[in-house]
Amino acid sequence: MINLTVTRLSWWTGIWASVNLLNAPLQTLQQLHRKYGDVVSFSIRGRNWYSFNHPDAIREILLHKAKFFSRPPILKRARAIMGNGLVTCEEAFHREHRNSLNQAFLQSNFAQYGPKIESLTIRCVNSWKVGKRINLSLEIRRLMLRVIALLLFDVDIEEEIDPETENVILTDGAFAVSCLRPFRSSFLRPSRFKSATSRFLSAIDNLMKCRIARGCEGDDLFSHLFRANNRSSAENTAQLRQMRDDLSTLLLAGHHTTAHALEWTFWLLDRHPEVQNQLDRFSTTASLDDHGYDTTSMIQNVLNEAIRLYPPLWIMGRLVEEETSILNVQLSHGTGVVLSPWVTHRDSRWFSEPDLFIPSRWSNTSLNGAEKAFFPFGDGPRKCIGDRLSMFESEIVLSTIIKHCRLNLIESESVQPDPGFTLKPFPDLWVVPELKYAC
Ligand code: HEM
Repeated sequence: MINLTVTRLSWWTGIWASVNLLNAPLQTLQQLHRKYGDVVSFSIRGRNWYSFNHPDAIREILLHKAKFFSRPPILKRARAIMGNGLVTCEEAFHREHRNSLNQAFLQSNFAQYGPKIESLTIRCVNSWKVGKRINLSLEIRRLMLRVIALLLFDVDIEEEIDPETENVILTDGAFAVSCLRPFRSSFLRPSRFKSATSRFLSAIDNLMKCRIARGCEGDDLFSHLFRANNRSSAENTAQLRQMRDDLSTLLLAGHHTTAHALEWTFWLLDRHPEVQNQLDRFSTTASLDDHGYDTTSMIQNVLNEAIRLYPPLWIMGRLVEEETSILNVQLSHGTGVVLSPWVTHRDSRWFSEPDLFIPSRWSNTSLNGAEKAFFPFGDGPRKCIGDRLSMFESEIVLSTIIKHCRLNLIESESVQPDPGFTLKPFPDLWVVPELKYAC
């Protein structure tokens, strides 16, 4: 096992780092790593933080020594919108709760939704007018919200829920999430955050009411949760409150991340026509599995490479709950820890030519152990519960879209990663779609 040494920033460099972490966190974390090594310590508003960038240390923190850590300040603030859901809840409640949600995830038959995800995607593509500009980011975020609502609630939002509820979930949810920014101690625009959160939560209540009225005998996640939570009384307020926290968490955690992964994928494909041409050829000739979906690895390689370069959750934080050491680095109670897939995924020790988009690096023969430095979904007990689900839906959406049209991005050179709670492209992506053939 390796031992790591810490570089403590001098007073002056520490001030430079804390200012720049607020304004340009991606570049700052990367510069700190390149200049000072695998563990850098700095102080922000009186708290000591350690940025760990070595895969072995990341694994220790997330997996082997997870019990020594608790949720970071940003997730404590996120409780205003996600309540005591799986992302924000503390460790004491987490273990049992995660087990019950794991059960619901396992029992729900997500695979049956494949054809429906494809038809939601086709409906979306059909609504685009050939030759007209469309806001691709918005379209993909709405589509992924519809997909996740289908998977979790078995609800076709467009057909079964009023458009106002959908709009509120989409726009107020996005606004509330955008107010949560790492390294900031408070919400941006607190009063707008409060009103957006309250509209978002009433929309979730609405969705739940409609769904409960339809009956909960099905095979979807909502029905499993409802049956598990309501054995004693369907009216139990605390249980319904917990369900609302879980569903708002799953809806938010589930659609922003996956939508951004797809947005970055389209942006990267636009900049790499050679990969896009290869995909085009492949989408018309590749063999299909029983459900008619492309299961060959090219789509998966493209998606993996997109989330390596643009990990939707670009940073993970922890607070040290109980004193411990990580590969010889002593951490005292209350210390903060940051881990950044953005930094580790772009480290040339693990990925050759790390800043380049090379989907073929994910074919088994070329990996050379780089998987251990790849953690877009985290690791250990708090690892993303939707990792496989998100790959499942993304593969279907991506392969359906590229089969039916080519997306020519407009002014894509000005697009930059915006490191808020999630890593989204800014400004939004705009395209003029070119239909290959009518759906
Ligand atoms: C590309 C898509 C996604 C990415 C990159 C992603 C990434 C992550 C990461 C890195 C974590 C761990 C955070 C930490 O350790 O602090 C996480 C947790 C979580 N994710 Fe995802 N996620 C994605 C999609 C989804 C989907 C589709 C869902 C739900 C259906 C989901 C639900 C969750 C939940 C509930 C947690 C908290 C798990 C826990 O603490 O037990 N995610 N996600």
